[in-house]
Amino acid sequence: MSEVEQALVRAADAARLAPSIHNTQPWRWVVRADRLELFAVAERQLRAQDPDARMLLISCGAALHHARVALDAEGWAHTVERVGSLAPDAPLAVITPGERRTAEAEATRHLQMLQVRRTDRRTVRDEAVPEDVLDQLVKAAEQAGARLHVLGRDQVLELAVAVERAQAAEAADDRARAELATWVGGERPEGTGIPSSALPAEMPLTTVAERDFQTAGTVEAGAGHDRSATYAVLYGTGDAEPDWLRGGESLSRLWLAATEHAVTVLPFSGPVEVPFTRDALRRMLGGAGVPYLALRLGLQDPARTAPPHTPRLPATQVIRVED
Ligand SMILES: Cc1cc2nc3c(=O)[nH]c(=O)nc-3n(C[C@H](O)[C@H](O)[C@H](O)COP(=O)(O)O)c2cc1C
Repeated sequence: MSEVEQALVRAADAARLAPSIHNTQPWRWVVRADRLELFAVAERQLRAQDPDARMLLISCGAALHHARVALDAEGWAHTVERVGSLAPDAPLAVITPGERRTAEAEATRHLQMLQVRRTDRRTVRDEAVPEDVLDQLVKAAEQAGARLHVLGRDQVLELAVAVERAQAAEAADDRARAELATWVGGERPEGTGIPSSALPAEMPLTTVAERDFQTAGTVEAGAGHDRSATYAVLYGTGDAEPDWLRGGESLSRLWLAATEHAVTVLPFSGPVEVPFTRDALRRMLGGAGVPYLALRLGLQDPARTAPPHTPRLPATQVIRVED
């Protein structure tokens, strides 16, 4: 295998650690002599909760960004073509490597961060995320193509209502409930889904309710509250497949930057999955764009042990090297 192919394999391997809706990891990679192709995996789409594949594409966008971080960290210049097509034989995106250059310091740090990043559903510390850090996260999201709207106090209450309504709508939907039971809970030895070890033992007391996964976990959520948390909506101007892919790249970009600043990120996708609450979020953006995800940003007590990482599919199942 050539030097560049080996770098592409390492990039696809780093992308395995990307966050994804219910840890479905709905991506696969094909390494070719001169490029890396990203494909969506339709069998791992949540048909009931995510019929448009919005969350699938946001997840694939996060994986795309992770792969790019790995290439930047090794100093491989590259270009990206975003097709965004869900057709089984057409790639979602194609990364074409170019010249070798000096590795980017930020990418080197972010490559480390993508190994420690995780979804943290514990309550956050009673101390707000500093303004200058928030500004950096807003910029980080923008650099990757989407925007971050930080919610004011009144809007946090509106978000709480939207989250609750979305939760009720999904809880009343038999197909969505069955889907949740398929992907969440237990030990997940097959390498996908959310194990109990990543979920709170009890629903924490919060203004904005965390997603009710309908199964108790083993994580001590903590006695805190979300009073000091910052809530935000990740959004963009377009509402089609390539835009959601970009949204995922922004999610990854801001999450890695947040991890560097010890800020935990908790996505709330329920209110974007359900059409009428998605409209409510869109109104909250005041015409600035369309919502991709709501996020909780908060500080975690470094003295507390973080929950274990969620499992991942083996590389052999998601990366294929073409001769
Ligand atoms: C598009 C998207 C939507 C998500 N929605 C939620 C959510 O509503 N509630 C939640 O607790 N976690 C949510 N997550 C976090 C995933 O469950 C998490 O990324 C996955 O289980 C892998 O775990 P890790 O992030 O700790 O690696 C979401 C992640 C993505 C990328």
